[in-house]
Amino acid sequence: MSSSTATTTDDAVRILIIYYSRFGAIGDLAGQIAAGARAAPGTAVEIVVVEERPIGEPLPGEGEEDRRRRQLALLEQIGRAHAVIVGSPAYFGSMASPLKRFFEDCATTESAILDRTRPWHHYLFRDKIGAAFTSSATPHGGNEQALHSILTMLMHLGMIVATPGMRGPILEHQAAPYGATAITGPQGQRGLSEEEAEEARYLGQRVATLAGWLRDGRRIAAEQKQGRLLTGGQPFDPSA
Ligand SMILES: Cc1cc2nc3c(=O)[nH]c(=O)nc-3n(C[C@H](O)[C@H](O)[C@H](O)COP(=O)(O)O)c2cc1C
Repeated sequence: MSSSTATTTDDAVRILIIYYSRFGAIGDLAGQIAAGARAAPGTAVEIVVVEERPIGEPLPGEGEEDRRRRQLALLEQIGRAHAVIVGSPAYFGSMASPLKRFFEDCATTESAILDRTRPWHHYLFRDKIGAAFTSSATPHGGNEQALHSILTMLMHLGMIVATPGMRGPILEHQAAPYGATAITGPQGQRGLSEEEAEEARYLGQRVATLAGWLRDGRRIAAEQKQGRLLTGGQPFDPSA
């Protein structure tokens, strides 16, 4: 599992991009999504690259204590995020198995911050904005189904799913309304078209904007609860 962090501040809207990529196309899409998210003011983007190995498997030369700390740091990184954008190549109309296993690993990893007696009662991702992206070799290679496989998992985890929805001019191209996509050839070699890159940046910016609204709304709700802000039916008293 490798991870990179950019300009994280305590007050930032934190966007976490989690992806698996074998040939690099999904990595390219992730870069565009990150650029779009950073265009929203006050956003910090972090990236977790999912590897072939399970997250609980020790890295070469890694001791037990370091392995445990690495896993906990990963769970805490996920827990801190306001939004998680998840990407995988389309394999047989579904997400690739390393990505699915990553989420299963998160549910079963031993940790003080999660209840491990019922791993399917999983609240690590709950109430965060969630979105998906994928790529396939061919236009009808199953990319919409692959997006749905990711979105179904995000819904199951209690996330608030965000999609790009239908919009032009990409409607004349192969893009899905359910998430960012690219058609890449069998080994991701085709490179992103400008429309695909633009759609990916749009998804990043949209998720960052929605995550900011949600974060700010929660803050206002918390302050209202503490009686520090006016509520709807309260008369305005300028002397107060
Ligand atoms: C095991 C496997 C299964 C695949 N299944 C499909 C498929 O069903 N349809 C398709 O269009 N492409 C399929 N592909 C191609 C990849 O989805 C495509 O090349 C993708 O863009 C690669 O992403 P990456 O460069 O990030 O690894 C498959 C590739 C592999 C290795």
